[in-house]
Amino acid sequence: MWTYHGSLPLRCDAAGVPLPELCIAVAQGHRGVGIGGMLLDALFADLAKDHDAMCTNVHVDNPAKRLYERKGFRPDGQGNGPLGLALIKRFR
Ligand SMILES: CC(C)(COP(=O)(O)OP(=O)(O)OC[C@H]1O[C@@H](n2cnc3c(N)ncnc32)[C@H](O)[C@@H]1OP(=O)(O)O)[C@@H](O)C(=O)NCCC(=O)NCCS
Repeated sequence: MWTYHGSLPLRCDAAGVPLPELCIAVAQGHRGVGIGGMLLDALFADLAKDHDAMCTNVHVDNPAKRLYERKGFRPDGQGNGPLGLALIKRFR
């Protein structure tokens, strides 16, 4: 799991500063037991020190969307490509 800033930012804050973008995967065979959720909680605690929000892109059919929504990401319109959905998680 990491965050990055793409050369084409997915979303920016009100001042035009690109939001950190999430990339996450848990090894096959270890998914669905809470590891992804715990990783996200740790990431939020860390990022919230310096950022108001973060974002991610998810394919409309990716079950990961349920985890993101449970963790407070909210849809923010078109993401990458025709089937990409942008999501934003606000920390304050
Ligand atoms: C998405 C991912 C990081 C979540 O980690 P995890 O440890 O499985 O997550 P948790 O156990 O905390 O939460 C379970 C949730 O993960 C998601 N999930 C479970 N299996 C998944 C899979 N094979 N692919 C994508 N998401 C999955 C679902 O949202 C699930 O929620 P649900 O129980 O309501 O169905 C992990 O499933 C994964 O690596 N998937 C493949 C890579 C990927 O799709 N990354 C996200 C790209 S946007």
